[in-house]
Amino acid sequence: MADVPARPDVVIVGGGIIGLSTAWQLRQEGVEVLVLDPAPGTGASHAAAGMLAPIHEAYWGESHILRLNLAASKAWPAFADELGVDFVDYRRNGMLMAAYDADDKALLDNLGDLHEQEGLPVERLRRRECRSREPLLAPGVRGGVYSPLDHQVNPRRVVAELLNRVPTLAVSATEVTGNQVVAEDGLVMACQQVVVAAGAWTGRLLGVPIRPIKGQILRLSGPEGLLRLPVRGVVRGSSVYAVPRSDGEIVVGATQEEQGFDTRVTAGGVYELLRDVLALLPGLSEIDLVETWAGLRPGAPDNAPIIGAGDDGIVYATGHYRNGILTAPITAAAVSALVLGRKPPVDLAPFSPNRFHTDGGPSSGAEQPLSGVPG
Ligand code: GLY
Repeated sequence: MADVPARPDVVIVGGGIIGLSTAWQLRQEGVEVLVLDPAPGTGASHAAAGMLAPIHEAYWGESHILRLNLAASKAWPAFADELGVDFVDYRRNGMLMAAYDADDKALLDNLGDLHEQEGLPVERLRRRECRSREPLLAPGVRGGVYSPLDHQVNPRRVVAELLNRVPTLAVSATEVTGNQVVAEDGLVMACQQVVVAAGAWTGRLLGVPIRPIKGQILRLSGPEGLLRLPVRGVVRGSSVYAVPRSDGEIVVGATQEEQGFDTRVTAGGVYELLRDVLALLPGLSEIDLVETWAGLRPGAPDNAPIIGAGDDGIVYATGHYRNGILTAPITAAAVSALVLGRKPPVDLAPFSPNRFHTDGGPSSGAEQPLSGVPG
């Protein structure tokens, strides 16, 4: 673990993958940084399956999110390389989306129209083609879409490696301004710039409209290579996915539940996931169920992340919803650029924290200039 600086230039509130990646990026630029989190790496990053899937997470009406996600996907090879490709289990073998019945196939065809409109490189597959790509799929699967650009990583390994590289302090922030954090034990920390990357807890800490969206998830363990590809399925209208790791672990997720800060694993949640994944991939029924878990995704009202400088002087990096693991490297690069007074590598206007203003304040997404921390 890196030494805790006595007088950090930048304090980051939140030690999930977004806060830790940003801290690491800033450290590489010579900035003294400190991450505050009562339990770093145990939130949404610990639950996440690690799909790096700009295409299979693309939805109608969200072109700006798709563009960010595609840029994030391009940033991953270098990010994984620096952390250790094998250690973080970064695998670029594409992802298959499969339809279970005829109605599910109609839904997939509709997404296929979106892929076409956006010019995304996907292959539409007939049922037999699906099974030759992934033999574990049920014989009745109606068809699928293969995306060569969607990849995967082990988020727990990424977080473990980042925690070795950045200093953290196990405290909760209770009050935050652009250049000061008050922690729950009364500790006051002044710095040149505060970055808030507190995930689902951002809404509680500050007045931004972030809500928790619960995801229950399972971990199965079987022979290495049992499942060749990450598979995203639509099963009788429900979404399910199975992401294989190199060591035989298969992560199955995830429910999508809006009920506040509830992280209970429920019988109904586990049942739904097993019902759908075993309908799609019946061969998984004999392997071990080794973990059940639930995490809270941070979601903004428009499902887009919040990245940028707020009117309050705080730099925000939150609200990454279903794509926090995918967008960690690009968010880290963008936030570091902002903090250091440089132009971010992507257009942050659609992701401005000021876009929710209803009082006639800046809602156009225009970024507030920051003075810049000397790097
Ligand atoms: N990215 C997948 C999920 O949020 O469940």
